Amino acid sequence: GGFAVVVVAAGSGTRLGQGIPKALVRVGDRTILEHCLTGITTSGVTADDGDWDEGPVVVTVPAGDTGLTDVARSQGAVAVTGGADRADSVRNALEHLRALGCRPRGVLVHDAARCLAPTEVFARVARALVDGQEAVIPVLPVVDTIRAVDGTGACQGVVDRSGLRAVQTPQGFDWDLLLAVNDAAADHPEVSVTDDASLVEKFSDRTVHTVAGDDAALKITRPLDLVLAEALLARTLN
Ligand code: C5P
Repeated sequence: GGFAVVVVAAGSGTRLGQGIPKALVRVGDRTILEHCLTGITTSGVTADDGDWDEGPVVVTVPAGDTGLTDVARSQGAVAVTGGADRADSVRNALEHLRALGCRPRGVLVHDAARCLAPTEVFARVARALVDGQEAVIPVLPVVDTIRAVDGTGACQGVVDRSGLRAVQTPQGFDWDLLLAVNDAAADHPEVSVTDDASLVEKFSDRTVHTVAGDDAALKITRPLDLVLAEALLARTLN
C-alpha cells in the first residue's frame, strides 16, 4: 500500500468511434473509468498499510470535462486537466501531486483504457518496487510475426520477436525518479514518448525492470477490444 496512482484518461477515444471520451464508454453496466478505479482500490496498492499513508489517485481528464470528473470524485479520486499528449497529461498529474506535498512510497501510472488489469499485475509491479526496483513495467511476449516495411509496403525483413515484448500498464516508479525524468522531459519538448518508462531510459541511467503482464490488461482501443472486454467481464461475474 501507500502508492500514488496516476490514471491517464484525457485522450479523445476517437479510435473507438463512440463520440465520447473513451473512459466514459460502458463495459457491462459501468464506465471504463469506474472499472479502472475499482480495480485500483481492490488491488490495495493505494491502501494505508501503517508504514505509508493512503496514496492519492489522480485522473487526467480532457479540458472542459465534467463526466469523467464526476466519476473520479464519486470514487474518491482527484481529476486534473490533461495536456496535449499523454506525457503532458502525466506531467500535469505529477505537478498536482507535488503541490499536495505528498511523498508516496512510489507512483503507478496506468492507462484508464486498461480497466480490467487484474489485481495480480498491480501486485507484481508494487512488489518489484518494494523490493528495490526503481522503474517497473508489465510486459507480454509478442505473438505475431513482426516485420519492418518501407514506405511502399515492401518488406525489409523480419524482426526477431523472441527479444521483443509488448508493454502494458500499470507502470511503477520510484517517486523521485519519475519527478526527475519528467522535469528533464519538460526541457526537451522535441522528445516524444508513448509511455513513462521511456522517459526513465531517455533522461536517467536507471534500468527499467519487467514483470509479467496479463492478457486481461488489454488497452481498450478499437471496437473489437470492447467485445473482448465485455466477454472478460461476463466471465469474471459468472
Ligand atoms: O493514445 P494512447 O491510446 O496511447 O493513449 C494512452 C492513454 O493516454 C489513454 O488512456 C488516453 O486517455 C491517455 N491520454 C491522456 N492525455 C492525452 C492523450 C492521451 O491522458 N492528451
